[in-house]
Amino acid sequence: MQTPPLAIHVSGLHKSYGKMQVLKGVDFAVAKGSIFALLGSNGAGKTTVVKILTTLLKPDGGKATVAGHDVVSKPEQVRESFSLTGQSAAVDEILTGRENLIMVAKLRQVKNPRQVADDLLQRFGLAEAAGRRVGTYSGGMRRRLDIAMSLIGNPPIIFLDEPTTGLDPEARIEVWKEIQSLANSGTTVLLTTQYLEEAEKLADRIAILHQGTIIVSGTLAELRRLLPPAKAELVERQPTLEEIFLAIIGNKEGVRR
Ligand SMILES: Nc1ncnc2c1ncn2[C@@H]1O[C@H](COP(=O)(O)OP(=O)(O)O)[C@@H](O)[C@H]1O
Ligand SMILES: [Mg+2]
Repeated sequence: MQTPPLAIHVSGLHKSYGKMQVLKGVDFAVAKGSIFALLGSNGAGKTTVVKILTTLLKPDGGKATVAGHDVVSKPEQVRESFSLTGQSAAVDEILTGRENLIMVAKLRQVKNPRQVADDLLQRFGLAEAAGRRVGTYSGGMRRRLDIAMSLIGNPPIIFLDEPTTGLDPEARIEVWKEIQSLANSGTTVLLTTQYLEEAEKLADRIAILHQGTIIVSGTLAELRRLLPPAKAELVERQPTLEEIFLAIIGNKEGVRR
């Protein structure tokens, strides 16, 4: 069987802040054009992984490549291959949606910044609100604008660090739709999330980061198979990722749940 080309490859990644070891040997791989969810609770180290992959932070050990380039020895090439939408929105509240997009398009020196902005506004359902100050936007609209901004220049890889944290359920669904359509257009998406449901809905593959390592990774179907069979028989419906998560952590810690 041929292995698909990788957009991201991480092996044995270590990172400490002072004496606190946050990453203790993290391994995973993301196939080109797929959606990969890095799932973990608050403080698990998700943002730390994203910062290392986006060259904002140096690892203490291990190796990571993005678009085939080593994040430590080839940071410039890595930076050309991705865009990052971080946990705090980068949009300017005083500017309108259109102005925000044009500004970024000019900064990234793309051709026809106005055309690029208008196309993105259309695609993200923001055309009507384009002339309004972002300060008046809802949470979901801002996050969609944020994602639209990160697409300027057509990066092959996009990192979304907790794209729906703090959004209400309706806005979350709006953002999910956009992430899905991103992947359909061939972009590789690595997203981090604390929401099991989000990983379940969006991701081709899911990796659970827990206490410094990836305790399990695979497709949702593969993760479901890890659930103890006796338990699976007891429930008529499919187990949720949350149940899988708890079952795995329970097994790891030797706790019977
Ligand atoms: N710059 C820093 N200095 C010290 N500790 C940090 C720093 N950044 C993150 N941490 C700690 O490292 C752990 C992992 O953080 P983070 O990667 O932000 O987790 P997540 O994104 O999964 O919530 C947390 O305990 C956090 O408090
Ligand atoms: Mg984080």
